[in-house]
Amino acid sequence: MILITGAAGKTGRAIIRALVARGETVKALVRRSVDGLGAHELVIGDMRFHETFERAMTRVQSVYFICPNMSRDEVQMGRFALKAARAAGVEHFVYHSVLHPQAEAMPHHWKKLRVEEQLLESGLSFTILQPAAYMQNLLTHWSRILNEGVYPVPYGAEARLSLVDLEDVAQVAAMALTQSDHAGATYELAGTEPLSQTAIASILGRELGRGVQVDEISPEKWSREARHQGLGDYQVETLVNMFRYYDLFGLEGNPNVLSWLLGRLPTSLTEFILRVERDRLRN
Ligand SMILES: NC(=O)c1ccc[n+]([C@@H]2O[C@H](COP(=O)([O-])OP(=O)(O)OC[C@H]3O[C@@H](n4cnc5c(N)ncnc54)[C@H](OP(=O)(O)O)[C@@H]3O)[C@@H](O)[C@H]2O)c1
Repeated sequence: MILITGAAGKTGRAIIRALVARGETVKALVRRSVDGLGAHELVIGDMRFHETFERAMTRVQSVYFICPNMSRDEVQMGRFALKAARAAGVEHFVYHSVLHPQAEAMPHHWKKLRVEEQLLESGLSFTILQPAAYMQNLLTHWSRILNEGVYPVPYGAEARLSLVDLEDVAQVAAMALTQSDHAGATYELAGTEPLSQTAIASILGRELGRGVQVDEISPEKWSREARHQGLGDYQVETLVNMFRYYDLFGLEGNPNVLSWLLGRLPTSLTEFILRVERDRLRN
């Protein structure tokens, strides 16, 4: 049995799909009851408490540890998960980290580096995956992109990011959980060369058959809207730090590692856009 934490988010769902498609048995740790996950077992619990992981780890061979996005408590959650995994005799622990966790200016990256450090020192067999920004993040703005030709970005249009298709990440996650030859590995998972936001808008425009322009939103305006939509102070501040970092340094990776792992080129942004549109028109 494979345990996936943070399982009801977009990452968890993609990884459950990939594992179930391979015939694996999956247990999902979720905060509240949820339908349609496709897991064989559900454990409901709060990851801020050790007791949750103790309950979740019974009869589990491998763990895929996803921490909730922008969590203030990621280091503590990691500590609890590792302690419970060791106590339960878990055979392999895969951690969903992030590309460039070394960036101290971004607290959610830095906390992931601290969890990686705990994992190295845990004595557990492990694999660490460090995905770039998901192509799926674009879906938040899909209707504006499609209907208004506007791609809103809370950092500079020339900030360069590598992107990755979450479906490719899920394939690698399934490999790391089910194949024995990924123990001890840390993999950077970028699917594209670094792309400026202007380049992303231009690819969107070309594939969607309409002009698409970047709309640079100031962090102040973005923060006001995010707070209005109910995002907490810690999350807003962390995201603003991330936007500043992107402005200064981008988040640039290289697709070589992912190509090698998949045995093919990673999904390109063009392929992703065409797939999203195909699925949208089908539904
Ligand atoms: N987005 C990206 O581009 C990207 C790239 C690289 C790495 N990552 C990392 O990927 C990870 C997952 O991101 P995601 O966007 O898939 O996450 P997400 O959609 O925010 O999902 C996280 C899940 O965790 C649950 N949760 C929140 N607090 C919890 C708690 N205290 N106890 C138990 N469960 C709790 C949430 O439950 P509810 O459904 O009830 O809210 C949600 O289902 C994050 O660590 C992020 O940093 C993201």
